[in-house]
Amino acid sequence: MKYGHFDDAAREYVVTTPHTPYPWINYLGTKDFFSLISHTGGGYAFYRDAKMRRLLRYRYNNVPVDAGGRIFTINEGGDVWSPSYFPYRTDLDSFETRHGMGYTRITGSRRGLRASVLYFVPVQGNAEIQMVTLTNESDHVKTVNLISFVEFALWNAEDDQTNYQRNLSLAEVEVEGGAIFHKTEFRERRNHYAVYSVNEPIVGFDTDRDTFLGPQNGWDEGVVAHSATSGNSIASGWYPIGSHNLEVTLQPGESKESVFVLAYVETPQDAKWESKGIINKTPAREILARFDTPEKVEREFAALKNYWDDLLDVYKVDSTSPELDRMVNIWNQYQCMVTYNLSRSASYFETGIGRGMGFRDSNQDLLGFVHMVPGRARERILDIAATQLPDGSAYHQYQPLTKRGNDAVGSGFNDDPLWLILGVAAYVKETGDLAILDEMVPFDNDPAQAAPLMEHLRRSFNFTMDNRGPHGLPLIGRADWNDCLNLNVFSTEPNESFQTAPNREGGVAESVFIAGMVAAIGPEYAELARLMGDEDEAARAEASVRDVVEATERHGWDGKWFRRAYDYYGNPVGSASNEEGQIWIEPQGYCVMGGIGLEDGRAVQALDSVRERLNTPHGSVLLNPAYTQYKVELGEVSSYPPGYKENAGIFCHNNPWITIAETMVGRPEYAWEYYKQIAPAFREEISDIHRLEPYVYAQMIAGKDAIRHGEAKNSWLTGTASWNFVAVSQYLLGIRPGYGGLIVDPRIGAEVGEFTVRRSIRGAEYVIHYLNTHGGGNAVGDEGGFKPASLTVDGAAWEGNTVPYAPAGTTVAVEVRF
Ligand code: BGC
Ligand code: NOJ
Repeated sequence: MKYGHFDDAAREYVVTTPHTPYPWINYLGTKDFFSLISHTGGGYAFYRDAKMRRLLRYRYNNVPVDAGGRIFTINEGGDVWSPSYFPYRTDLDSFETRHGMGYTRITGSRRGLRASVLYFVPVQGNAEIQMVTLTNESDHVKTVNLISFVEFALWNAEDDQTNYQRNLSLAEVEVEGGAIFHKTEFRERRNHYAVYSVNEPIVGFDTDRDTFLGPQNGWDEGVVAHSATSGNSIASGWYPIGSHNLEVTLQPGESKESVFVLAYVETPQDAKWESKGIINKTPAREILARFDTPEKVEREFAALKNYWDDLLDVYKVDSTSPELDRMVNIWNQYQCMVTYNLSRSASYFETGIGRGMGFRDSNQDLLGFVHMVPGRARERILDIAATQLPDGSAYHQYQPLTKRGNDAVGSGFNDDPLWLILGVAAYVKETGDLAILDEMVPFDNDPAQAAPLMEHLRRSFNFTMDNRGPHGLPLIGRADWNDCLNLNVFSTEPNESFQTAPNREGGVAESVFIAGMVAAIGPEYAELARLMGDEDEAARAEASVRDVVEATERHGWDGKWFRRAYDYYGNPVGSASNEEGQIWIEPQGYCVMGGIGLEDGRAVQALDSVRERLNTPHGSVLLNPAYTQYKVELGEVSSYPPGYKENAGIFCHNNPWITIAETMVGRPEYAWEYYKQIAPAFREEISDIHRLEPYVYAQMIAGKDAIRHGEAKNSWLTGTASWNFVAVSQYLLGIRPGYGGLIVDPRIGAEVGEFTVRRSIRGAEYVIHYLNTHGGGNAVGDEGGFKPASLTVDGAAWEGNTVPYAPAGTTVAVEVRF
């Protein structure tokens, strides 16, 4: 069952009913000011940091889930409704929410009046614009009240939800015409306030929630909404809000627009006040003046469209599969940009108060956006590297406002350092900018400890090599990519976080997954060293990688698949000899990506085991059999009910590793099948089962042991986005940047018989046309194995699959026959 449809030409998903199984949201904002908005207008806004600079309040665990947020009320002679349906739930004659690239347009109509609200955050300017268009579609004159509403958060979102003894006495506002200023805490240490304004004359306003709603009323029972008479209230403590009341008269057929702006404003520290107790409104007036007519708003909206046109122009496919095209050209890349901006901080599942930027997360996210904004990727790399510790290990998280390592979470996740190498390698391949490796970057944000970025990578590599266990495999530390595989924590205290609880000393827990990372990422380090002219270092690294690969072949192989780890006592995890958790997905993907077992058949065997034991029509589960009881020696993974999250959920982030691995062993049909299982656009038809947005990946889909198999959770902010973009763009469509040229090696199932990719890189454009002339089939086991496609470049036959980088400004035509 579907709840809407894609409009690819407009790059929108159109939700056609308010009654989706869960709020389906979008993100507004490209740089500093961000808003989350659901298809029924719920959500919140913040400036830069969702914890410290929250503008609008949001309630998790709310009933109904999405109440609050921004509300536009229409009162036509006592008939009260909202174009976004909530909170009144008055029947609408039509309803539609269009989520697009950085904007959302919600349109509802009732009794001949159409109300459409366009929400977006402009490319320049820290504000959320809400442009309301009312159209009289009836044959008589209509006079209605249009009443706006937002609820302010008291800036620190955590405090806002917990510290009532203080914060219920804080709220302060000022009102000047149609501009409502939220200035709580401005009197003390803040030099910022919010303003919510409208460009049209108002007949009333409110800033006090109890006046607006009535102290005992629910959202749909608001006194002002139902009486159409504002209280002109001035908040003093309690719950500050912003609400305008406009009276609009429309002739038959007439349309009128009003522009509401919610802006974040900073004042210079020495010019905070206009006069005693009155805030300096000059900077607010400046920003409001930029959006005070519909024409100005349309111009800013066009600029936003251009911004996305440019970003999405770098990699485009035109294929025989509309679902593939819309994922690749629109939604997957869009999600990668959102994940780049937000990391794991603020969604309908992440509260924005709990997490900073992950070291491993940010490095992997980079893989999905580096081609769109290489300059910002460079900046991000330098920020991340500056939080690395001098011994090569890393703070697991850092805070976006301060860009400093987060002491509360600390370090000890032993996969972290290697991801930095992967991120840098992706950046260098995309741009050719080797100079970044010479950039001086501090360790632990201490300028006195600065060293070239290349030295950071060396310490990442060495840290992994110097911390190996009795089998010659990397020690896992607190955990590796799987945050929930906590082999040294032995936690028995229910209120303790698995992520930060003290670890037992003296264990020998090792990770086969990190060994796979060494095999896959170690050679990138060696290559970078070689490009920097350090042949000895490259050779040293390659020798170390070989050691780890050998150790993996000897101790990481279980007979039919790669083992997952060795525990604190040296017992295997992810082995047929275990009762539960016999096979885990991560090492099957990453070891094969590292080339382990490609020659001797183990890679194929491991992937066959994945197919047999882990794959389902909804994707591949993380492990099997699921843990049915808590195991103190394994940690959080066994804390989840079977089939959810890391305990045998379909943890989507690792599925593309299997997809990539299948392309590497030459089984494009399986690769394509796996890609489709979790790609949201391909799951649109089962939206009632999937339940979350059909346009973005979710972190998890409940696995086969779960009661709600196939149901997704934690949409939007997940490494799944970038890895699937890597899988589809670089391995299925097969176009990936190498150090010396663009590699063209499509390995996609026969269902996609033909496609054209336009890829811009280093200033040149490649137009790659692929045609499958021989049908389908996985080649493994066939005579001669998988045959890569053959190429012509600008009409001439071409050896191999690397097309050298062409001069900027040129276009290269590549024909691929398979
Ligand atoms: C989740 C992980 C997450 C970790 C850190 C765990 O509870 O299962 O997916 O990475 O918390 O936030
Ligand atoms: C979510 C975290 O953000 C990511 O870093 C981790 O790899 C996965 N959970 C798996 O535990």
